[in-house]
Amino acid sequence: MPQPPQLIDPFARAITYLRVSVTDRCDLRCFYCMSEHMTFLPKKELLTLEELDRLCSAFVSMGVQKLRITGGEPLVRKGIMNFFDAMSRHLATGALKELTLTTNATQLAKFAQPLWDSGVRRVNVSLDTLDEANFADITRWGKFQQVMDGIDAADKVGMKVKINAVALKGTNDHEVHNMVRWCGERGFDLTFIEVMPMGDMGELDRLDQYWSLKDVRKTLEQEWTLSDIPLNTGGPATYVQVAETGGRIGFITPLTHNFCESCNRVRLTCTGQLYMCLGQEDDADLRQVLRTNPDDDRPLYQAIENAIARKPKGHDFDYSRQTVVGQVSRHMSHTGG
Ligand code: GTP
Ligand code: 5AD
Ligand code: SF4
Repeated sequence: MPQPPQLIDPFARAITYLRVSVTDRCDLRCFYCMSEHMTFLPKKELLTLEELDRLCSAFVSMGVQKLRITGGEPLVRKGIMNFFDAMSRHLATGALKELTLTTNATQLAKFAQPLWDSGVRRVNVSLDTLDEANFADITRWGKFQQVMDGIDAADKVGMKVKINAVALKGTNDHEVHNMVRWCGERGFDLTFIEVMPMGDMGELDRLDQYWSLKDVRKTLEQEWTLSDIPLNTGGPATYVQVAETGGRIGFITPLTHNFCESCNRVRLTCTGQLYMCLGQEDDADLRQVLRTNPDDDRPLYQAIENAIARKPKGHDFDYSRQTVVGQVSRHMSHTGG
């Protein structure tokens, strides 16, 4: 068999990182991410686990080395461990360097051990607060203790835990020092994210929520000694080390510093659409190609190659003139962040 082509986009960026949303559903309703009454896709629209396997395997044979499973909440997808187990064969061959996930941790107490057994060594947990009441407000109905139990379980099996917090003015701005302290004590990395204009949030105003990470850093420096470090985990964060705790803090700055020039990733939705950029609307329907060619992967390779050839230079998110520019209509849970 001839080798499928490797993935290089029009800006000479090698695509080695695939983010896969395995469900649009979530058991929480974080106010900046979802509306309270979301309509989810009918289950029959979803790719089956076998189809997800075929697609991800095609990407791996085209040079993808890092696979991140996302959602919605990936661990609410029925049978998801079968998929992780299946993907671990690519770790065994060495083709895949990392199999990982981004989760809200509500189901992690149950899944930490099986995930470890399938080769997951690192997990990113979305957690914006360490205050139980604030957690209930942000997530609308989440149970904080359940998340803590999930995090403890991941830590206990030996997984490296990273906490992802969206920086939200008026919501968790008073908690950042506590989060740095707690993550330091627990040996967790902590990453802050600027809120992006994704999904129609009704009357909620992104500009009111937005807290620039330049300002977050200034706030942090009032209490902590931060020094830049060259750590690169393959994601968009830039990192600093905290002298007092020995911990690391990452900054993901789609608004204040556009990192698209080093973009190495594309994202697959749970219905098989490939988005070449989180912040643009263009997508390629790989489900259609998959289903019309059940026994031949060549059209799939071709469709993936064609899609990568359309990868845009970057997103257009911008709030700098006090207006929201570059908004995309779909919710973050659709493309998995
Ligand atoms: P590491 O492997 O730990 O580096 O993780 P990661 O940053 O690649 O993945 P994670 O799921 O933790 O991503 C955190 C958040 O960063 C996502 O949910 C998005 O909000 C944001 N993000 C990740 N990639 C991109 C990107 O290409 N563009 C933009 N605008 N935001 C991104
Ligand atoms: N902007 C930035 N991050 C967001 N997330 C969800 N919605 C947004 C948004 N509009 C984050 C979640 C989680 C990750 C998957 O994306 O908090 O960390
Ligand atoms: Fe669910 Fe994550 Fe969205 Fe919260 S941010 S509602 S945990 S997908």
